[in-house]
Amino acid sequence: MVNIAVFASGNGSNAVNLVKTFNSGSRIRVALCLTDKENAPVIEKMQELGVPVEYVARSVWKDEPQKVIDILRSHDIEIIALAGFLCFIDETIVKAYEGKILNIHPSLLPAYGGRGMHGANVHKAVIEAGEVKSGATVHIVTNEIDAGPIVVQRCVTVLPEDTPETLEAKVHEVEYDIFPEAIMKVIATTAEPPALPKSVDDDWAETLGVPNDLPHLDTTPHEMPSPSPAAGQPAAFMPGVAVPASEAGSQEPMPPTYLVWAVVTMVLCCFIPGIVAVVNASKVSSRYFAGDYEGARRASRNAEIWIIITFVIGVIINTLYLPLSIAGMF
Ligand code: GRF
Repeated sequence: MVNIAVFASGNGSNAVNLVKTFNSGSRIRVALCLTDKENAPVIEKMQELGVPVEYVARSVWKDEPQKVIDILRSHDIEIIALAGFLCFIDETIVKAYEGKILNIHPSLLPAYGGRGMHGANVHKAVIEAGEVKSGATVHIVTNEIDAGPIVVQRCVTVLPEDTPETLEAKVHEVEYDIFPEAIMKVIATTAEPPALPKSVDDDWAETLGVPNDLPHLDTTPHEMPSPSPAAGQPAAFMPGVAVPASEAGSQEPMPPTYLVWAVVTMVLCCFIPGIVAVVNASKVSSRYFAGDYEGARRASRNAEIWIIITFVIGVIINTLYLPLSIAGMF
């Protein structure tokens, strides 16, 4: 489970959205909300959702940042999400959670970012400048305001009839999509991998009360000795012996004699005897209808004999190739 802390100073609609997105699952959850405003609406909202919420005075944020870190550590917080947090974040906190603090900003950063650019001020400035598009950005928090690496950014269209309020509503809609998306992205790249489940060996070691460390067992795979054939001899087939990749390309090609052998075999054992067998078989019916029963019987016997010859020659020739070639006759 990855625990997130949300820092918020105001309304908290993004904080609520994060809780609703994550807290019903089993992987990520908003485990804490910190605020710098004693009466911020976000406090009540978090309480209603059952999320622990703490007020930390601005003086503490500024002069005793280690206290904030201690609170975060006591809740096992791994990721921090700034959702409308208007208080300065001390560099001690930024360092303690380097790369793991995300801020959501209601403009297409780097445009309309920096000191004084927050909430309604941003939307007002965008409209006054006659922009046709605005949007929201989630970025990693560094010691510079609104300047850290961008994680996710999404646009909205600014219409001529838009007011700061209507634009804010549109931007909020995309914020509800991109903030959870950015958090998951950062978790996927920075969070500690989950601990491996216990193995059967661990269970046995626990049952027997012995340590499950077997340093004496050498588990490195050993190379199998490769068969070294005599000069001019083909290598025998060794099941399970893999040909090293470096040697795979240099394996001996199929000897050309085998090709000749295969062609001769086919002609001898399939083609010629096969044709003789077919000729004899065709004679059987013609002789029979001509009334030459004795001739039909002879042709039938010949056909049978040639079929057997075809088969026997095929078997003999094919089985002979290997021993003959090993004996150096090819
Ligand atoms: C959001 O627009 C966010 O981009 C900015 O502050 C606003 C907070 O809104 N940083 P809410 O309190 O989450 O409704």
